[in-house]
Amino acid sequence: MPRTLDPELRRALAARIRYYNEMGIYDFYRQPLSDRSGEGPISVDEAEIAISINQPESGEEMNPRKAAAVAMPVATEGDENIFEVIALKPEQSVSDPVKALKMIREDLGDCTRCVLHKQGRKQIVFGVGDPKAELMFVGEGPGADEDEKGEPFVGRAGQLLNNMIKAMGIEREQVYIANIVKCRPPGNRTPERDECATCSPFLMRQIAAIKPKVVVALGAVAAKTLLAMNASMMQLRGRFYDFRPAGVRSNNPDWDGCKLAVTYHPAFLLRDPRQKGEAWKDLQMVMKELGMKAPAKGAE
Ligand code: URA
Repeated sequence: MPRTLDPELRRALAARIRYYNEMGIYDFYRQPLSDRSGEGPISVDEAEIAISINQPESGEEMNPRKAAAVAMPVATEGDENIFEVIALKPEQSVSDPVKALKMIREDLGDCTRCVLHKQGRKQIVFGVGDPKAELMFVGEGPGADEDEKGEPFVGRAGQLLNNMIKAMGIEREQVYIANIVKCRPPGNRTPERDECATCSPFLMRQIAAIKPKVVVALGAVAAKTLLAMNASMMQLRGRFYDFRPAGVRSNNPDWDGCKLAVTYHPAFLLRDPRQKGEAWKDLQMVMKELGMKAPAKGAE
């Protein structure tokens, strides 16, 4: 028999979960409530302890197995899904990804949710490409060229990304490209953790709208934010993760998440071209997953 929660408790927990979401916390572990020691009705605090927040302490290194669990929390049988209290996002009622992306863009508006809006950004860089793409690339954040043009990866790193995409035998227009943060950090600094946490829910919604088969995280910021884990590039690369966009409840029986691979950021490859071969190995793994024919030559 599935357990039902007292409506009052359910409402209180929903409010608590929304509160955490607003702080950028989306992933939770559920412990079976049968593990509880006390008698009598469950209190909000007790229920909340049973749904412990899954945020690594800074500096903590999570191993990839744990990361997969983080990226893909699974309900246990007979356990009421308290996460259903999280309302569907407005775009989730439309099946057309073009419309869904437009709705997400409208929701983003002239965003002032984090400090980046007042630190010299010229415009929001939402994302570009095929709204029905099977393959998505996610970078860190816009640089000066992207800020100027309003499009991700149009500068030198973008040229290299284009070459990498070409080397896979496809065109830039066939993939979707976005960033963890949509506004240029001043001086091209690395986006802060809270900026990533504030902005990435919109990216998660974009991913859920596009429903790709594979997401490629370009560099450590993209990988760590998408997977909600702290690990080195060496630990992160070389395998697929089962990925579901955090904080977005799936209402689509045809799309239950996708694969996620991690590779080097093109800007890093410009600084250390010797790593291009390693990046090419990552892309070949992706091509295999997508059933793409490997062209004879790697990225230039
Ligand atoms: N670097 C990124 O991470 N994203 C861009 O859009 C451009 C450079």
